[in-house]
Amino acid sequence: MILIIDFGSQYNQLIARRVRECNVFSHIKPHDVTIEYIKSINPEGIILSGGPSSIYEAESPKIHESIFDLNVPILGICYGMHFIINALGGAVKKAKKSEYGFAMLNIQNQEDLFKGIDKKTRCWMSHGDSIEKLPDGFVSTAYTSNTQIAATKHAKRKIYGLQFHPEVHHTVAGTKMLDNFISNICGCKKLWNIKSFAKESMEKIKEKVKEKNVILGLSGGVDSTVAATLIHKAIGNNLRCIFVDNGLLRKNEASNLQNSLKRLVKLNIQFVNAEEKFLTALEDVVDPEEKRKIIGKIFIEVFEKEAKKIDNALFFAQGTLYPDIIESVSAFGGPTSVIKSHHNVGGLPENMKLELIEPLKYLFKDEVRKLGKELEVPEEILWRQPFPGPGLAIRIIGKINQKRLSILRKADEILIQEIKNNGFYKKLWQSFAVLLPIKSVGVMGDKRTYENIIAVRAVESKDAMTADWARLPHDLLATISNRIINEVNGVNKVVYDISSKPPSTIEWE
Ligand code: XMP
Repeated sequence: MILIIDFGSQYNQLIARRVRECNVFSHIKPHDVTIEYIKSINPEGIILSGGPSSIYEAESPKIHESIFDLNVPILGICYGMHFIINALGGAVKKAKKSEYGFAMLNIQNQEDLFKGIDKKTRCWMSHGDSIEKLPDGFVSTAYTSNTQIAATKHAKRKIYGLQFHPEVHHTVAGTKMLDNFISNICGCKKLWNIKSFAKESMEKIKEKVKEKNVILGLSGGVDSTVAATLIHKAIGNNLRCIFVDNGLLRKNEASNLQNSLKRLVKLNIQFVNAEEKFLTALEDVVDPEEKRKIIGKIFIEVFEKEAKKIDNALFFAQGTLYPDIIESVSAFGGPTSVIKSHHNVGGLPENMKLELIEPLKYLFKDEVRKLGKELEVPEEILWRQPFPGPGLAIRIIGKINQKRLSILRKADEILIQEIKNNGFYKKLWQSFAVLLPIKSVGVMGDKRTYENIIAVRAVESKDAMTADWARLPHDLLATISNRIINEVNGVNKVVYDISSKPPSTIEWE
């Protein structure tokens, strides 16, 4: 196992992924993790991530320097390397010229990290600081035209540093460098894959749960269904799933889901209709965070009521993924702002006293899909686009009521039909309609209209951390627009959202 210490880099999840692509498991922990904790998990190697700070600033994040006495190989990336150099007696200064983007790396020494890599190879730089003086025992192993020390090592102590980012695709031999660190320097065995992950997770769940019951909130989406299937394979009918219809689902979604979940995955599911409760509580609410909080609270209330009916339930399972944790809590191990309150993160009400089981919490979406395939979850469920817990409430901007829900459902149904019929559904991360709170003037059959606007959102993404708007063909957009305006009463304009994340987000609220 490789431990990744988080100094706040936007690329941390990528480092974790690349390690797994080398078939070795990885954990990311904040920089204030204790040395005792590190010892207790006994990693075979440690990667110190990059980060936005400068090491010479007083408040810059650090980890205790006894990390160097653990006798575990260490690789510092960008800020992680600056931390090493600074801690061990070298000097880091503001560079004369910041370096962002591609650079040609000249490798001086094709050993260790650079074994089997061309002497000249393209790398991705993103830094404003540079190493001015190396600590005793360190040598420079590569340079670029702008940066004299682009890589360094203390071979005897197995401490390495890279000024550039090996984890991003633009660094051509980056994965090979990480693989060299993980396999050759740390000596990790390549034992991690989805099959071994499934087997190990099932054993752990069995061991933990024993004869007790586990309850799980099933949404019919990829994550909760894969989590449920994994747990079901481990403990059979001791897994009790609860499906809450909050009245904020898409057209026919609740009944379609009931049918396909019953037909395709043989889980023990209790279906609960709580539409009225949710819609009553949301009446007149327009603030997005308030909507999310109300929905989260009622969900827990409804769920708790059902859960109380289940004897011997000591565990609560969720299909939380890695990006959910990152975005809702903090990517930086410190107080970064919560962008949106994702309601499946943040634990349970105190009085519920159930222990949490989150078997997918270190995986990315595509890894969950691979796991689902391994567990024989049907394609029809595996390739469903993500749908947020608060559902259509955060896609109806402004007040939520049955009339507005009905308009949005019809528009969304048309959009999804066209996206599917034209072969885009699987290619897109998400595609959906949003109902705006403003009206626009139109003309239909010589008559003035003053009606609603539907925004169409379609994005491409790998893990929802970043996303770009999809360049859908104009003809397809034209068909979507024509059909929505002609077939949905109360809509006279369709607009296409052309913003990427960041600085936008995928959902509108
Ligand atoms: P944003 O809008 O933050 O969304 O870019 C990122 C991804 O998360 C989904 N999403 C949610 N999923 N509960 C969920 O389970 C939520 O409260 C929630 N909010 C957003 C969103 O659909 C996108 O895939």
